[in-house]
Formats: sequence, C-alpha cells, structure tokens
Amino acid sequence: MATLRFENTAAFARSLDQKDFLRPWREAFFIPQKDGVELTYLCGNSLGLQPKRAAALLEKERQAWQNLGVEGWFEGEEPWLAHHAFCKDGLAAVSGALPSEVCPMNSLTVNMHLLLASFYQPSATKFKILTIAADFPSDQYALETHLVSRGFDPAQALVEVHPRAGEMLIRNEDIIEKILEHADSLALVWLSGVHYYTGQLYDIAAIALKCAELGVRIGLDLAHAVGNVPLELHHWGIDCAVWCSYKYLNSGPGGVAGVFVHQKHHGSNLPRLAGWWGYDQPTRFEMTKGFVPMPGADGWQISTPNVLSLAVQRAALEPFEAVTMIEIRQKSVALTGFLAFILADFEENIKIITPKNERGCQLSLLVENGGKACFDYLVANGIVGDWREPNCIRLAPAPLYNTFFEVWRVGQVLGQYTWACNNKLETLLAE
Ligand SMILES: Cc1ncc(COP(=O)(O)O)c(C=O)c1O
Repeated sequence: MATLRFENTAAFARSLDQKDFLRPWREAFFIPQKDGVELTYLCGNSLGLQPKRAAALLEKERQAWQNLGVEGWFEGEEPWLAHHAFCKDGLAAVSGALPSEVCPMNSLTVNMHLLLASFYQPSATKFKILTIAADFPSDQYALETHLVSRGFDPAQALVEVHPRAGEMLIRNEDIIEKILEHADSLALVWLSGVHYYTGQLYDIAAIALKCAELGVRIGLDLAHAVGNVPLELHHWGIDCAVWCSYKYLNSGPGGVAGVFVHQKHHGSNLPRLAGWWGYDQPTRFEMTKGFVPMPGADGWQISTPNVLSLAVQRAALEPFEAVTMIEIRQKSVALTGFLAFILADFEENIKIITPKNERGCQLSLLVENGGKACFDYLVANGIVGDWREPNCIRLAPAPLYNTFFEVWRVGQVLGQYTWACNNKLETLLAE
C-alpha cells in the first residue's frame, strides 16, 4: 500500500478502504457523531477513541465490586490482585518488551519522576541530563524539578539539543553529537520517541546504541510513540521508559499509564521510591518492615491500582494483541502518505513540518495565514484535530479506526475553506 500512486478522488480513497486489512477494526470503536453524522476523528494523538469492548470489561469489574466488595481483590473469576498482569502481553507487544519489563501504573509524569529517582544516579562528575529543547512541558518541568531536588542547578545540569538556526526539527546526528560532546559528564539521556508538536520520530535505535557504547543510561517518554510506531525497547537496550495510554492505546481519558524497565535492571539494587504495591506479592500482606520488591517492572508499582482503569486498558490492548505493530505501521504509512498527498494542494498556505521519513501517525501543519480560522472551519465541518499555538494544526489518522475516505475528506473541507477565503465569503466561513 505504501508505494501506491495516490489519486485525489473519493472513489480512489474508497478503493483503498476496500483493500485495507485493518478495516474491520473500525467497528471495534465508537466513532463520535454530531447531529447523527460520524465525525472525522483525527485526534487519536490526543485522546484515542473508545473501544466497544471497554464497556463489557468495565461492567464485569463493577459487578465484582457490587457482589464481592473487598473480596474482589482475592476472589471471583479474576481477582483484582492479578489485574495489572492481564495488560502485560499487550503492553509488551506495543513496546517490544518482555512481559516482565512492563507494568501498567499511575500516570505518565508520575512514572517519569519514579523512574528518574531510580535511573538518574548522578556523581560529582557525571550529573548532567541531556534532552531535547522544547519537549513536552511536563517533561521539562519533571527534569528541572528533579534536578533541583537532587541539589543540581538545571542551568548547569540540563543539556538541551536545539534545532539548527532556521530549522524547526532536531537532527538525529545533532543529538548524537551532543551526547558525544557531554559524554564524560552525562548521567542520563531523556528523549521523547515522537515529538508532540512536530510529530518527528527520532532514531531511537541509533541514539540508544550510542548511549550503550558510552555507558550512558537512556530513558524515553513514549506518549506519542506507543501504539503508533513499532518499538523494540528490549533489543535497543533502553534502560527505562514511560507512556500514557489515552492516546494511541485508546484507554480513555486519564487512563492508567505504563512503564518499561529493562531486564538488565531487574534484581539490581537501584534506589527507588517504594510503596506497598511494589512489594513482593506473595508476602505483601504480611506487612513487615523493609521493602522487598516484586521482580521486574512490577516492583516499581507504588499504590493500589485503579482496577476500573486497568479493565479499560485490557480491552483497549486486545487489537494490539491481534495485529502486529508492523501491520499497523504499514497502514499508517499509507494513511499519512495519502494525507500528505491531499495536503499538497494547499502547500502555499499549509506546510507539513513533520518529516516524511521520520514520522508516525501525526502530521503537524503550520498554517501561515489564518491558522486558527482554518482549524475552526475544519472542526465546524466535522474534522476533529487539535490546535497548538501559535499556528499548528495536528492531524493524526489512527490505523485502527481511521479510513482513507476520511483523509480524502480533509482535502475537500480545506478546499471549501480556501475557496471561501479567496472569495471573501464571510458568512460561509462563520458557519
Ligand atoms: C509527550 C508527552 N509527555 C507527557 C505528557 C503528560 O502526560 P500526563 O499528563 O498523563 O502525565 C503528555 C500529555 O499529553 C505528552 O504528550
């Protein structure tokens, strides 16, 4: 599909949908509607759609709570005590990990602090954290405050890689160059897999390889990468990673997040911020003094998990266990390729900043004139993307539920908008 020559017609888009081997999965999701018409939902990069299976699995746990009360933790068909483990195969599949290396828990930024507590172990000479400039604000705040809490001044201890003058994207070679430059003083590299604003997918494997050669630990924020692009965290030797599940993993607003801790650190005596839920499960309820962690990533758990959220995550991971990330990627490349082809008609005003060969599902569009008005027009015409100041529209066709016809529609609506602008049809634009 990826090598197809595209045509800008509804018939062509529909023909791609007919050949789409992931097409049946759309039926597994609720597609939001307005006035009885399905919206063209291209916002899975912000909040993925609700899997229909979520209701049944949620209801099962609600009933267990209704019928068993506290005994639900130990009794019933599937005692809650084991629920985090039901998500492990799916999380391992989307992250390229062993099941023991992943665990659903907490929320992304909370997990980031927890893993920084373990994996950022500065010494007097190796104390710097290298990251990319203008990364998602939560990552910036977490790194800054973490450094301060360990007695370091971020102005000295935080090394940022910037785009070159006149460029918007950060080159992989510049990340590697900066790692080499600071190798003697680096304690950690912290990187996003896919940048939230530009949609750029970094060359994680190459960066991880360089970190491994230099003996520098690497941690990842995979909020925009997990469930979006194939990942091989285990093989790449990534030390630790975090993600949220409400974007491409479709686990609902504020849904339980996840962590990856590489097998090489299991059984190590890395410091950690512990809580009782990370305690060795068979003896947890003996409630004795002195922390004994569960093996693997599970040992980083702290608190009683939200079982209702785990139930949704379990339902949401089912498609990812049924199809591979390679298959998802194949359709994604075709969808974004088609979207880029459709958008080429508007290139005078709309520039795609996401690099062609370094992207996941999301295309970030810089609209030179009237960006917000253009975005509002898309929304008013049933196309849901999101807006990022000062002039960026993010559109992300998600392979599990979006169609080529929907992508084609984007061009139709943009065409109407452009025509209305050119003809100064204020009333049409206000609709
Ligand atoms: C790249 C990235 N990192 C971190 C976060 C913050 O996640 P949370 O609010 O779930 O901690 C987000 C949220 O959208 C994000 O996009």
